[in-house]
Amino acid sequence: MLLRNIKVPSQQVSFLDAVRIGLGEQQGLFFPATWPKLDIERLLALPFAERSAELLSAIIGDELPLGELKAIMADAFTFPAPVVPINDQIGCLELFHGPTLAFKDFGGRFMARALAAAQKRQGVSRTTIVTATSGDTGAAVAHAFFKQPGVDVVILFPKGKIAVLQEKLFTTLGENIHTLAVEGDFDQCQALVKEVFNDRELVARLNINSANSINISRLLAQVCYYFEAVAQLTPAQRANLVISVPSGNFGNLTAGLVAKVLGLPIKRMIAATNVNDTVPRYWQSGVWQVNSTVPTLSNAMDVSAPNNWPRVEDLLAQGFISRADLSAQVVDEEDTQFGVRRLWQEGYLSEPHAAVAYKALKRELKDGEYGLFLGTAHPAKFKEPVENILGQPIALPQALAAVAGETSLAGEMAADFVELRKFLLTLE
Ligand SMILES: Cc1ncc(COP(=O)(O)O)c(C=O)c1O
Repeated sequence: MLLRNIKVPSQQVSFLDAVRIGLGEQQGLFFPATWPKLDIERLLALPFAERSAELLSAIIGDELPLGELKAIMADAFTFPAPVVPINDQIGCLELFHGPTLAFKDFGGRFMARALAAAQKRQGVSRTTIVTATSGDTGAAVAHAFFKQPGVDVVILFPKGKIAVLQEKLFTTLGENIHTLAVEGDFDQCQALVKEVFNDRELVARLNINSANSINISRLLAQVCYYFEAVAQLTPAQRANLVISVPSGNFGNLTAGLVAKVLGLPIKRMIAATNVNDTVPRYWQSGVWQVNSTVPTLSNAMDVSAPNNWPRVEDLLAQGFISRADLSAQVVDEEDTQFGVRRLWQEGYLSEPHAAVAYKALKRELKDGEYGLFLGTAHPAKFKEPVENILGQPIALPQALAAVAGETSLAGEMAADFVELRKFLLTLE
């Protein structure tokens, strides 16, 4: 399969190149120009990992033979993505049963293995992943690449500005996972990472790559769990399915639309945002106006310039989807809290991100339709806001309780590129 750069269509690369490069020229995203036709019923009958291998093989082609993909997926997708019924008309697709309790485990673990395949094929002996995190991404990337031969991971995070348990999920691993607490905020961490990518000599010497959500491997892995969701539904539910996605950078939503393009029976999708609502406003008015970002309870979705949106535009422009396939909803803070409480009354413990999607779904779901919303993180990852909303304590799951007593191995650093560069060169 060839992927083209959406911004510079003359740049076409193979799947493994796209995994290794991440972003194309002029910061353009790589995306397939064509999509295969699939035998959906046959696929839905297969177990999760095997189905995912077949699905990705149909998209990727011979670059990764089916046998290799089957081994990769059996190793990557070792945890379930269950649909948990809320009531007769609504279910939650829980994506938080991986090692770091967030949907990013699916994409991170597939990316790690796809990158290993690319390194092997292309004779690259070492890659350095450099990433900034405000929490979730660092944990998922650290766990996905932990002990992977030929890969060093460097994670920058703002010192003292991440929940302690969240931080411990990635600072206690050690080995090839190097973590740096930066004296500054998340924006300064991100600015440092940008400087790294602008330093061509450094990028070339250390084979620097990013593991952020625009990498095509992460996106394709996410397509797989939409199939896993539908596989668990009854024929009646499949016939009238609406899926609501809590959206920030719109990777998850794009993956759902790709699943629909591939033939998965999804009647329509809902892009649910918090008050950082660039997309819902654009969907209504046709005007792309980026406002400054506002902090919310669903803080992983506090994004006003969503980096995956060009892929949705591309699906529209190529005629793979139409406007009727998608709607967009804004859920404010009050409604988010209402959503968490309402779900609790239904007997279901949730958190603000999923609650945004749930509220949007409730507004739009019609009689005779079946609705799914995505549960993107375990409620205990947002223990404090959830406890405040519900007025009662919630228990820690084993994965979080286990790291609570461990020692952080993070180094400390000023928000200074020269210092970071010096550190990176020690990994050469
Ligand atoms: C818990 C949670 N929910 C939702 C999202 C939004 O996903 P996307 O960026 O794919 O729209 C994120 C993104 O980081 C997240 O961490």
